[in-house]
Amino acid sequence: MNKKYQNFLKMVIYQIYPRSFRDSNGDGIGDINGVIEKLDYLKELGVNAIWMCPCYKSPNDDNGYDISDYCDIMDEFGTMEDIKRLISELHSREMKLIMDFVPNHTSTSHKWFQESRKSKDNPYSDYYYWFDEPQNDWESAFSGSAWEYDEMRGQYYLHSYAVSQADLNWDNPAVVKEMQGVIDFWINLGVDGFRCDVIDQISKDWEQNQNMFGPRLHEYIHALFGREEVAHLFTIGECWCQDIEELYKHTAFERGELSTVFQFNHMECGRESKFVPKTPDLREVRDIVIDWETLCEEHNLLYTLFTDNHDQPQFLSRVTGYSKLRYEAATMLAAMFYLLKGVSVIYQGQELGMTAAHYDAIEDFDDIESINYYQELLKTMSPKEALEGINFGSRDNTRHPMCWDDSEYGGFSDVKPWIAVHSEVKTQNLKTDLASEKSVFRFYQKLLKLRASSDAILSGSLQVLSKKEDRFFVYVREADGEKILVICNFEEPSEILVEDVIGTLLLSNYRERKEVSGLYAPYETAVFELK
Ligand code: NOJ
Repeated sequence: MNKKYQNFLKMVIYQIYPRSFRDSNGDGIGDINGVIEKLDYLKELGVNAIWMCPCYKSPNDDNGYDISDYCDIMDEFGTMEDIKRLISELHSREMKLIMDFVPNHTSTSHKWFQESRKSKDNPYSDYYYWFDEPQNDWESAFSGSAWEYDEMRGQYYLHSYAVSQADLNWDNPAVVKEMQGVIDFWINLGVDGFRCDVIDQISKDWEQNQNMFGPRLHEYIHALFGREEVAHLFTIGECWCQDIEELYKHTAFERGELSTVFQFNHMECGRESKFVPKTPDLREVRDIVIDWETLCEEHNLLYTLFTDNHDQPQFLSRVTGYSKLRYEAATMLAAMFYLLKGVSVIYQGQELGMTAAHYDAIEDFDDIESINYYQELLKTMSPKEALEGINFGSRDNTRHPMCWDDSEYGGFSDVKPWIAVHSEVKTQNLKTDLASEKSVFRFYQKLLKLRASSDAILSGSLQVLSKKEDRFFVYVREADGEKILVICNFEEPSEILVEDVIGTLLLSNYRERKEVSGLYAPYETAVFELK
């Protein structure tokens, strides 16, 4: 693997949903200064980069993914001065800033759209997709048609997401140039990388009738990131690459596109729809991850290790179905993923084992996807059933405020937050976690320390010892004679036998172990250095 990617393997990225991380000015909404307040906490946890969900100017119909100015900050989150201070505070701690970059669409209140809708022959007319008639039956990801009629222009425009998120027309070279300018603006301020929102949608495949993976996709990604002046950046695409060929095209070092992508197959495991409750089979999750790890290794690609983000209910809750073994499952999942080879991404609250939230009424939700989809569900089910589905799959499950202590608003804010605090705030918060013998935070801290200090874990080979039918995952990472054995047991007690090895226990979530082999409890994990 080339040097650049090898360095990226050391990255442990913490994803921040700024609206819900820490409110520093008492308005019930998280902000940039709140993030700055918590940088020492993050450093202590062992992360060395943060990915900030969008904090640009935005009317907030999709919580910042509807940008009205790429080169300014949302009023609720602070100012340009605050973000500059964030960058310098991060850099002084040797941490990086990964900004969310949203290239597929802008808010309809963006100046480009406001101009574009005025006529068919102004400099911005072709910045978006305008047609006299809807071109196909594409649907918006947030329900309903993806085509919206605009009275002023007298034409339809495409919106793959909310009506107020118009898709940019990348086939117009002026749009490509504008987006290069946005990237340059932020790198001049010292940003170290970008998480690229639905980047696989910037080229549409009109012929195959899909609004993604169009024929010019790689040309556009290359136009953004194949340039000399941005070659140092870390870039991670939100992509739905289904096979190694696609992954290679997106992320091979020599192609000058993205550094890596979020590969979603393991997240989708066993799920027909986001809103239909179904527990993922950890054996399948394990096998999918092993397959991608192996393929990435063979092709010198960078894999990304993650289980959570701001669009998914907590993986922990999906796996355990709210089981009592919260500490055990949260820590076992950490060992299952973050001792493998890849860029590690942790979503805020994951390091405390926070579970998915639950809301009693549809009025308690804020997320546009959930609110729209609730109306869809009502067409075929009762309000009670619809609410159950929404509660299971809603993005608001993970968007509740981070709980720093056990006070009414979880130490997130002094006033009532923009969205309800987690009902389990008394037990699921940093202060209580740290006071407990079973601290998820401390387990993460130890694990990340171990990760950072071990070449075997960072870049060693992977040997899987468990078999497909096993309800556990046993693997060895090895480099230059250093051998680390990881045992992760799933939901049932298991007798695990690893022959001919003697190991010293480095990390566990259950008990001291002198022997590697033995009976493992539900969600028990143990990590050994082998002699
Ligand atoms: C993916 C983002 O993660 C999600 O939160 C957003 O709503 C859509 N892209 C549209 O930008």
